[in-house]
Amino acid sequence: MIAPGDKSISHRALLFGALGAGPMEIRNLAPGADVRSTASCLRALGVSITQVDPSGPPPVVRGPGPLGIAPPGVTLDCGNSGTTMRLLLGFVAGARIGCTLDGDRSLRGRPMRRVLEPLRAMGARAAGQGTSGDEHAPLTVEPAPPLVGVAHRLPIASAQVKSALVLAGLTAEGETRVREPQPSRDHTERMLADWGAPVRIERGEVVVGRLTRPLALPEVLDVPGDPSSAAFWVGAGLLVPGGRAVIRGVDMNPTRTGFLSVLQRMGARVEFQPEAPRAGDPVATLHVEGGGELRGTEIHPAEVPSLLDEIPLLAVVASQAAGETRLRGARELRVKESDRLRQLVLGLRSMGAEIEELDDGFVLRGPARLRGARVDAAHDHRIAMAFAVAGLVADGETEVEGAEWADISYPGFFARLRTASAHACDV
Ligand code: S3P
Repeated sequence: MIAPGDKSISHRALLFGALGAGPMEIRNLAPGADVRSTASCLRALGVSITQVDPSGPPPVVRGPGPLGIAPPGVTLDCGNSGTTMRLLLGFVAGARIGCTLDGDRSLRGRPMRRVLEPLRAMGARAAGQGTSGDEHAPLTVEPAPPLVGVAHRLPIASAQVKSALVLAGLTAEGETRVREPQPSRDHTERMLADWGAPVRIERGEVVVGRLTRPLALPEVLDVPGDPSSAAFWVGAGLLVPGGRAVIRGVDMNPTRTGFLSVLQRMGARVEFQPEAPRAGDPVATLHVEGGGELRGTEIHPAEVPSLLDEIPLLAVVASQAAGETRLRGARELRVKESDRLRQLVLGLRSMGAEIEELDDGFVLRGPARLRGARVDAAHDHRIAMAFAVAGLVADGETEVEGAEWADISYPGFFARLRTASAHACDV
């Protein structure tokens, strides 16, 4: 099977495409609703993007360039997508326009002060709705005088916050610096630097200068496959007796592959066969052999940013491993599309796993004989897909309530799962 296009790179391709001079065709754009939210917000800001439809021709983005963003005249609806809201906020903060950014119920619940406050330190006029010590969408942005570069030290590693500050930094006078406690995914800095933006890494810090000319975009960008979507097939291949999975075209950017290292440490048989690099990232075919013995492991806080979105799937795999799996340093999971730590603990417990909830992680003792249950996806795409994989190894039937949320990142996931399990679990 071929992994669908990477969601993080797809959001960025559309956004950075708006900062270029010429058209850029984007092949293998991520198919989910989140990336469509980014496309429709950008269109409202005056960026030309042809139809984003996985069954049609690849979309072409043609930007107005760094200075051409227009006031939208409508609320920018970011749907369920935190990446859309946080990156767009950085994108519009220095554009001298007014706008409002909003989202669905889940997105309205997510913390936004972490990005608003550092943007305000650069001179942005942006605010959210202040409740309970944080700020939430809807967010309003007002035209501001030119932003000023500031040195930021993020208290928590976050690629979304880092990217928002880098984007704002492209419009700011002087240098903007961003330092994180651990490295989060680095697509923003790599793609922008590759396309000629004044962005460099200095002793682990991202340093951004003002963008004075349009980005030098490639005519065609081929988005590599999403490791976070591929992870579900890796899990299915590993857990189903006699399972096997071959997943082609997977992005192997080292800031994204922590889950593969953890699985290998647990004894999983996963091998990589390198393919040609795409979008500046290494790419590989993953070969997964199931049925082997898995052992529990400790997932260290320093590893968390490199496997952040794969933790729901890792917990399901760990429920089938012998001994203890312990995760710490993952409090951020509580402010994703759902409180993922809570949902994982509730769901796995209801299926018969022995799992203890920690403030910033969990302790799981396996292997558990899972039994089918009714599990709430909690409006969260990754919870829905992780429990679908758990259902493959549980006795009896598992019902994932809200399975359709998978469409946020992976439309067609359940259809693909049905055909995969019909072929002797050969995914
Ligand atoms: C993303 C960054 C991550 C991740 C999210 C996508 C991105 O969030 O969870 O799904 O594309 O920048 P953080 O901002 O917590 O790193």
